[in-house]
Amino acid sequence: MKLAQRMSVLGTETAFEVFAKAKALEAQGKDIIHLHIGAPDFMTPANIVEAGRKALTDGWHKYTPAKGLPELRQAVVDDIALRRGAKVHPDRVLIVPGGKPTMFYAIMMFGEPGKEILYPNPGFPIYESLIHWSGAKAVPIELREAQGFAFRAEDVLRQITPNTSLLIVNTPANPTGGIIPRAEMDTLVKGLAAHPHVVVMCDEIYGRQLYDGEEHVSILQYPEMHDRAIMLDGWSKTYAMTGWRLGYGVWPSSLVAHAERLQINSTSCANAATQVAAIEALRGPQDEVDKMLRAFDERRRIIHKELNSIPGFSCNLPKGAFYAFPNTSRTGIPSRTLEHELLNEAGVACLSGTSFGKFGEGFMRFSYANSQDNIREGLRRVREHLARRAETAPSK
Ligand SMILES: Cc1ncc(COP(=O)(O)O)c(C=O)c1O
Repeated sequence: MKLAQRMSVLGTETAFEVFAKAKALEAQGKDIIHLHIGAPDFMTPANIVEAGRKALTDGWHKYTPAKGLPELRQAVVDDIALRRGAKVHPDRVLIVPGGKPTMFYAIMMFGEPGKEILYPNPGFPIYESLIHWSGAKAVPIELREAQGFAFRAEDVLRQITPNTSLLIVNTPANPTGGIIPRAEMDTLVKGLAAHPHVVVMCDEIYGRQLYDGEEHVSILQYPEMHDRAIMLDGWSKTYAMTGWRLGYGVWPSSLVAHAERLQINSTSCANAATQVAAIEALRGPQDEVDKMLRAFDERRRIIHKELNSIPGFSCNLPKGAFYAFPNTSRTGIPSRTLEHELLNEAGVACLSGTSFGKFGEGFMRFSYANSQDNIREGLRRVREHLARRAETAPSK
């Protein structure tokens, strides 16, 4: 067999690998605390499950239109009007199986040899992986702890060249919990007027997961961007539906037919019964979403306090999503080594900052999509491991 060359540059999402390793250790009888998880630990709200079950009983067994059910696309547009205060035509909405297909389609559409794509680093690892796969040059936007892991718009604008085809923004962000403040987004949008060749893909999948009254600034709130911004969102995080596989993209009118064509060439359409359940998710009661958010908020405060009590760790209070991203550089342990040791020796699954790009060195990602007890126990194990390590380390 001779694989296509491009397969050698495809990266991965280490979360799935750590998950597999943790499961293998558990199969050997080891007790593992899972703090690597990128999925809410709650069940999907019952009204949504019931809508999905009923959809199957009612006969939603066939293909839907490639772009998704018209009623769902209308529900998406209504939700965008309600929560983002932006007006979008349903024709621009493409329902896809998860959050990932929108980024896949966008990067395939704009990435090729000779092009440059700007992306956040540390950031969701699939951006960099797909950019490499497309043949484009991956140009990292370094997100710095001192700036709350938000970019400075001026720095981003300076990195744009005539070859830049796409700029990827993620707010609120995985893995840092950072958000892009309105002032930076304003400056970015204003500056982009001088670069009409640059398309923006804004990954807003954590847009409802914000704390302390922070506001979500959506790219769709800028009418001047509607002809060149792709907005990615989905049901995975907000409604605890990662296994249902459903998401959507809002595309510029000129791109939506291309996105639909990519969909027809790959997945045909999203799961029919899931789409029916997703209408209930958007139109039904939202109390379960609010309940999950309150639980995340409490855990966020606990994990922040616990992480800062570990010698060698320091951690910003995350503003969004459900991840804490402590600086661990003062331990002197490379992030990948720490990930390995914590899993194998301390029984704690978490992710090295470098799983999210080279600028993640010196950081670790801990997810707080787990119970308060497990968070406390996991971090107790981390503290104990580091203390044990310090005792046995040869003195300098
Ligand atoms: C920033 C970001 N975008 C997109 C996704 C993908 O979401 P989905 O599981 O719906 O494909 C994730 C999942 O972790 C994510 O963190």
